[in-house]
This record gives sequence, structure tokens and C-alpha cells, in this order.
Amino acid sequence: MSFPPLAPVLDLFANPSAARRPYRAPLATLFAAALLATTAGCAGGLDEPERFTGASSCAPGTTASSIIQAQCYSCHSTETKASGGGFDLQAAGLPGRLYTTNATCNSQPLADSANPSQSFFLKKLTPSPGCGGQMPLGGSLNAADTACLTEWLVAGKPSP
Ligand code: HEC
Repeated sequence: MSFPPLAPVLDLFANPSAARRPYRAPLATLFAAALLATTAGCAGGLDEPERFTGASSCAPGTTASSIIQAQCYSCHSTETKASGGGFDLQAAGLPGRLYTTNATCNSQPLADSANPSQSFFLKKLTPSPGCGGQMPLGGSLNAADTACLTEWLVAGKPSP
């Protein structure tokens, strides 16, 4: 007769798992929700910034950030800005910061909130900026990259 002694053992197994189950389910749900939120945030925020800025002129695989990093950081990163007239394109707050900063070159706002597409920042990408040299210094951006930065600057105008 091994039945009666086994029953309490089965009870011991049954009780803890029965007690745990109600706690496990909500925890798993919370974890799944947190994971979903994190993943959704990353996908929208970092991989596809054009979904938020509405930019569409950028060449496939490029963004304003990737262009600035590739074409401008050699003289305008936080570390290298001494070779770019002290102008920092890596520090936080772009492009909004350009609307509240005057150029060293001509004391005009780097970005013009009244007429963003005519901003001095964009004129610096042309052969005749009116003050100083064409950027990137010693070269020039192609049409797609210029259009991409133009859209980025215009779309980045801080709301009044
Ligand atoms: C090889 C170095 C170099 C590179 C690369 C470069 N710049 Fe510059 N940049 C400079 C120098 C030097 C100055 C200051 C002299 C002048 O204005 O011509 C300057 C000035 C500027 C200014 C004016 C800042 C002010 O306050 O007057 C802007 C805007 C600018 N650069 C944008 C850019 C952008 C955007 C890129 C990338 C597309 C870029 N630069 C790439 C060297 C560089």
C-alpha cells in the first residue's frame, strides 16, 4: 500500500506551483510589455528617423546624422572643433540649436526661423556662402546630401 504516503508528497509539489502561478503570469506580461515598448522605441527612434522628420530626399541608407558624421566630424566634432572654427556639430541639440546660435563668421543666426531654407548653415554648403569657405572645407556635398540636410534643418525648426 504505497498510496497514502505518496499523497502528502504530491500535495507538497502541487501547493508551491499553484501558489507561484498567479504571480508568474503578470510578471511575464509586464516583461513582454516592457520588451515591446523598448523594441518599438529603438526601431522608430534610431533606425528610421525619417519617419519622424518627414525627410525623403536623403539617398538610400543615409540620414542627416550619418552625412554630418561622415562629412563634417573631421573638423566639427566635439573633439575636432578647433580645426572647424570652434563650431561643434556633435554636441546635443541639433538641429534646434542652430536656430538659437549666431555664426562666428558673420554674427547672423546659423538657422533662420523666418526662412529656414535660406539659412546661413545651408549657404555654407554652396560655393559662395557670403562668409568663409564652402563646406565641407576643400570639397562639396552632392545634391542628395545637400537636399537631405536642407530638409533636416527645415523640419527641425523649433515650434514657437
Ligand atoms: C576640413 C575641415 C572642415 C570640414 C570637413 C568641414 N568644415 Fe565647416 N568649417 C571649417 C572651418 C575652418 C570653418 C571656419 C572658417 C569658415 O567659416 O570658412 C568652418 C565653418 C563652418 C560653419 C560656420 C560656423 C560659424 O559659426 O561661422 C558652418 C555652418 C560649417 N562649417 C558647416 C560645416 C558642415 C555642415 C560640414 C559638413 C558638411 C563642414 N562644415 C565640414 C572646417 C571644416
